[in-house]
Amino acid sequence: MQLTVNGQTHTVDVPADMPLLWVLRDVLHLTGTKFGCGMAQCGACTVHLDGAPIRSCVTPVSAAGGHAVTTIEGLSADGTHPLQRAWTELDVVQCGYCQSGQIMSAAALLKQHPNPSDADIDAAMRGNICRCGTYQRIRAAIHRAADLAGG
Ligand code: FES
Ligand code: FES
Repeated sequence: MQLTVNGQTHTVDVPADMPLLWVLRDVLHLTGTKFGCGMAQCGACTVHLDGAPIRSCVTPVSAAGGHAVTTIEGLSADGTHPLQRAWTELDVVQCGYCQSGQIMSAAALLKQHPNPSDADIDAAMRGNICRCGTYQRIRAAIHRAADLAGG
């Protein structure tokens, strides 16, 4: 099947029910997206499907055919998306494992709400777990990214 990821079309020879996460990581070698729980419970595997955040660990690759997939590698060409700049500026990351999923959920939020309230952030980010407890810095960085983006 054909899969469009970060603006590039790939032909992949995989079972239709293979999780999109496996295809991204093991076939296309886009390892920025992480495997956490594998059960749609942690958000580490969050990518965008046509701009909406999805859990790629429980999304069969067949569901992505004909749609645009965006991973953390495709968020910006050079790491200068406002969220990436804010994350660096506020030193959000601890171990880092959850963070690409956090940023992808935050990116979807900022598309919907360019200047989100704390309540908007908490609602949008509820499904992204951080075992290092970086939640306060994540919230601050989303506000900072909104400022950087002029929201
Ligand atoms: S790995 Fe997909 S939600 Fe946890
Ligand atoms: S930074 Fe370690 S799990 Fe979030």
